[in-house]
Amino acid sequence: MRFKQYKLAAVVMAVALVVAGCGSKNQLEIFTWWASGGEAAGLKGMTDVFTQDNPKTKFVNAAVAGGAGVNAKAVLISRMEAKNPPDTFQAHAGQEIASYIKAGNLEDLTDLYASEGWDKVFPAGLIKTLTIGGKIYGVPVNIHRANVLWWNPAAAKKAGITAAPKTLAELFADLEKFKKSGIDGIALAGNGDWAIAHLFDYTLLASMGPDKFNGLWDGTTSWSGPEVKAAIANFKKILSYGNSDKSLDWPTAGKLVTSGKAGFFIMGDWASAQWQSDGLKLGTDYTFAAAPGTVGIYQWLSDSFTLPVGAKHKEAALAWLKVCGSLAGQDTFNPLKGSIAVRTDSDPTKYDAYLQSAMADWKKDTLVGSTVHGVNMNNGFMAAYNTVVGKYYNGGAKDDAGFAMELADAFTANPNA
Ligand code: GAL
Repeated sequence: MRFKQYKLAAVVMAVALVVAGCGSKNQLEIFTWWASGGEAAGLKGMTDVFTQDNPKTKFVNAAVAGGAGVNAKAVLISRMEAKNPPDTFQAHAGQEIASYIKAGNLEDLTDLYASEGWDKVFPAGLIKTLTIGGKIYGVPVNIHRANVLWWNPAAAKKAGITAAPKTLAELFADLEKFKKSGIDGIALAGNGDWAIAHLFDYTLLASMGPDKFNGLWDGTTSWSGPEVKAAIANFKKILSYGNSDKSLDWPTAGKLVTSGKAGFFIMGDWASAQWQSDGLKLGTDYTFAAAPGTVGIYQWLSDSFTLPVGAKHKEAALAWLKVCGSLAGQDTFNPLKGSIAVRTDSDPTKYDAYLQSAMADWKKDTLVGSTVHGVNMNNGFMAAYNTVVGKYYNGGAKDDAGFAMELADAFTANPNA
């Protein structure tokens, strides 16, 4: 009898411990692909704000390196399949987060929006891209711009370029000038395929304009039509001015520009944060413009954080999400990360000249989503898009028409649910 009582007490205690662990704040495992450079600096800025309010919570950084999450997302999906999710993870607003919502991986955060008043300080259009069936599933921490042209003013001057190219025709003329001055016209990052797909996504947009570009994702622009054909011809031409090493990661490719070995770099604005974390100066070591052919267009993406179903430290995760949406969190994180805040009450004086110009453009430009960074298409398509574009870049496609056909197949095989 006595033994039975002990046994019951032990079971009760074990259950209590498990329950306490589930809700507990003693630890927070956060999963991103922000493992180094400006990305890690941004994450640290945000975790410092979190630690001020939650000094007893042990922070477990589960970052998996690899730009655009090309490695991280595969690890994340297998962890969720194994019912071992992190306490919170990074997901892009749009079809990427929709992939997780539809798989039943995420908890509804609508109540948190109401209690934190985020519906009043986040743009309604952005909240929509995190909402399915009237429920909101992510807390956006930033807005990045994908279509930025970066260059080194000294190298440009040497090549006889004094102003940013505004059109594709001007871009091609300047690529030729860089070539004549003895350097590669454009820095290319082949590692992991995504940065080449990022360049291709920009080229589609610059070549056909926002309406036709958006039509690619709702099926109203054909992959076998003249617009895609013209875009592929432009892409091929841009690639021909690139560095010959096809294995560079994006920070290494970016260095070609800041060290004067290549002319232009078309990359999201995290490049600026990366260079600043290396001690380089905006305006002196590198400068920027809207990428040619996309002036007046803001190709956007937004990193958000989530509460996975089955998170082991839910209370800590909710505390983290509150920091992500807070003014202090956003205005600490974003100047380091190279992005602008989502909150409309953000303080512009905390941001550098590039980010202040991005803030102004975000308010007046035509907004178009990024495909490589989750806005337009689901996880399955993104992986296929990277592979198909990477294959073309590496000379694996039969020809341009074959490339267009593989893109069309990827689109048909991976519809947004
Ligand atoms: C994007 C992400 C950015 C940055 C970039 C390069 O997908 O939204 O925050 O991390 O990849 O890794």
